[in-house]
Amino acid sequence: MDVRAANVVPKRASTPAQARGLVALDGAALVSGIATADDAVAFGTAMLGDRVVRIAPQFEATKASMEEAEPLVAAQPVDERGRKRMLGRYDLTQPAHNDGFGFGDFAPDHMFLWCDTPCTVGGSSFLIDALKLATILAAEDPQLADFLWDEPIDHSEPNFPQGDPEPIARFSPGGRAQVRSHPYQLPRVGPRETDHYPFVERWGMAVAEARSTGPRFRLEAGQMVCIDNYRMLHGREAYVDIDRKVVSIWAWTTSAINIPAGQLSIAEPVVPEPLAS
Ligand SMILES: [Fe+2]
Repeated sequence: MDVRAANVVPKRASTPAQARGLVALDGAALVSGIATADDAVAFGTAMLGDRVVRIAPQFEATKASMEEAEPLVAAQPVDERGRKRMLGRYDLTQPAHNDGFGFGDFAPDHMFLWCDTPCTVGGSSFLIDALKLATILAAEDPQLADFLWDEPIDHSEPNFPQGDPEPIARFSPGGRAQVRSHPYQLPRVGPRETDHYPFVERWGMAVAEARSTGPRFRLEAGQMVCIDNYRMLHGREAYVDIDRKVVSIWAWTTSAINIPAGQLSIAEPVVPEPLAS
């Protein structure tokens, strides 16, 4: 089985409507010629159209911002399952992940990565269609497929409880496929924890293999990748340039499972207040 079939190099779109179609079809689209973060938000707003409820820049991915948040996260203790939060490092390749994974149902259902200043060396991006990966794995491993879709697991981050366990792959009440991966996933605590561990591990290893062996693409200045954050995993390689700046924009639409009332903090997460309907 070649898990790289789940990797996606985003196709180019030149208008919000083209991007809308590509995101629906492929899970992602690439656009160019976006000069500012405000323009990036405006493009994302137009792409999501009537569905958009909330869209805002979430953070600047820079060496400086990572170093600022690092001591806050380093001070957070190991949790009762032996896990320790880490924000990741600019000089290491990221694990493939859905953004906002620690917020569970409040994670953004769409996201945009707008590149202000690329890195001269490294920093290439990758995308994995997690729905496709789960489906590829299912062809050879029906037991794993059943686990991915049917068995609730612990999606929480260390010291940041998330409510009831949920399967790795599920359909939202709004009909969206959501397939998740991040470094802290574990079986739910209970009598079947040991039996479930190999399935969670196999999922993590398949994601890691797709990440490590699949194609990359570079975000150049003014380019933005539009992403279905429920279905797709993303990440970037290590980079060296301290001037590299990519802005992550998070968006929630009418088909998001839950929508926070305000800005979320990744460095010091708290359970969000839901947006009043
Ligand atoms: Fe991310």
